[in-house]
Amino acid sequence: MKRRVFSGSRPTGRQHLGNYLGAIQNYVNLQDEYACIYCIVDVHALTSLEDTGSLQKNIYDMMLDWLAAGLDPRKSILFVQSRVPEVMELHTLLSMVTPLSWLLRVPTFKEKVKLQPHNVNYGLVGYPVLMTADIVLYKGEVVPVGEDQLPHLELAREIARRFNNLFGQTFPEPEAKLTSFPLVLGLDGKEKMSKQLGNDIELALSPQETIERVMTAVTDPARRYRDDPGHPEICNIYQLQRYFNPLQSDSIAEQCRSANIGCVDCKTLLAEEINSTLGPFRERRAVLATKPQYVAEVLADGAERARVIARETLREVKQKMGLL
Ligand code: TYM
Repeated sequence: MKRRVFSGSRPTGRQHLGNYLGAIQNYVNLQDEYACIYCIVDVHALTSLEDTGSLQKNIYDMMLDWLAAGLDPRKSILFVQSRVPEVMELHTLLSMVTPLSWLLRVPTFKEKVKLQPHNVNYGLVGYPVLMTADIVLYKGEVVPVGEDQLPHLELAREIARRFNNLFGQTFPEPEAKLTSFPLVLGLDGKEKMSKQLGNDIELALSPQETIERVMTAVTDPARRYRDDPGHPEICNIYQLQRYFNPLQSDSIAEQCRSANIGCVDCKTLLAEEINSTLGPFRERRAVLATKPQYVAEVLADGAERARVIARETLREVKQKMGLL
């Protein structure tokens, strides 16, 4: 039997290069070898979203990106989290075996408190418990994620272990699977690329928009004038060159160090490579965008298939916890 992969993403709308390089690439690559389930976690999104009116559109935009990137509903289950409400029941049950102290020390919780001090809601504290419920409801063994999710995965393993110790072996301890580019920095060159921080490059931009966006990127801060020698190893744009322009990246580094290439030329090269790499993706996306009915059917079918597995696990959990 194939091992099970589970991963989730918040419906933040059109996906960016960070999502793609850190996670979606692996979602697609794992589809043949594993039994994959990929979930759009709309309930998680409520921990930060103030304008819930955009949620349905965000889900749709994200699905267009996933499908255009190569997620195949014949191979993987694709669904929206709230359409399988068993996850919320499991979340409540798991919250009874999760010490509050574990949750308060999670670094992403502390970051969120700083990022949205006006909205430190109860759901934010429980965020990793809901995420654990997502994974173990499907007995997920392998979880493709970016590096920022590792603390959550560690906690998921601890919660699964604790449940197993208390109630008998039930859940596998899920392992994270990183891509070769697990942390993509944003255009500011400081923080991780993120929609919430507004430092992202969306996959679905037009070629011209991509060029304009790349041009706003912060590069090596020590390189103030065109003749200053650069330090590619600390430059965010150079990291992206290594992914999008692997054949030329060594020579670009050399030219940057000797100030033979300026940051504007370097960014232009990068934007061209991003555009040519994403060209086929953008074409597939444009075709899919004409088929909203198809996207809705994929999600409805995915939820039905996910729910069969979810019901079975939840029954087992309730039995073990003495509720049945
Ligand atoms: P989210 O929605 O923030 O991001 C979705 C996926 O994209 C990866 N990612 C990045 N990787 C590299 N560099 C970046 N700048 C970057 N930005 C985003 C994330 O690591 C993630 O893999 N908590 C999760 C959603 C979630 C989940 C789950 C994940 C809910 N339940 C169960 C795995 C399993 C999140 O907020 O991801």
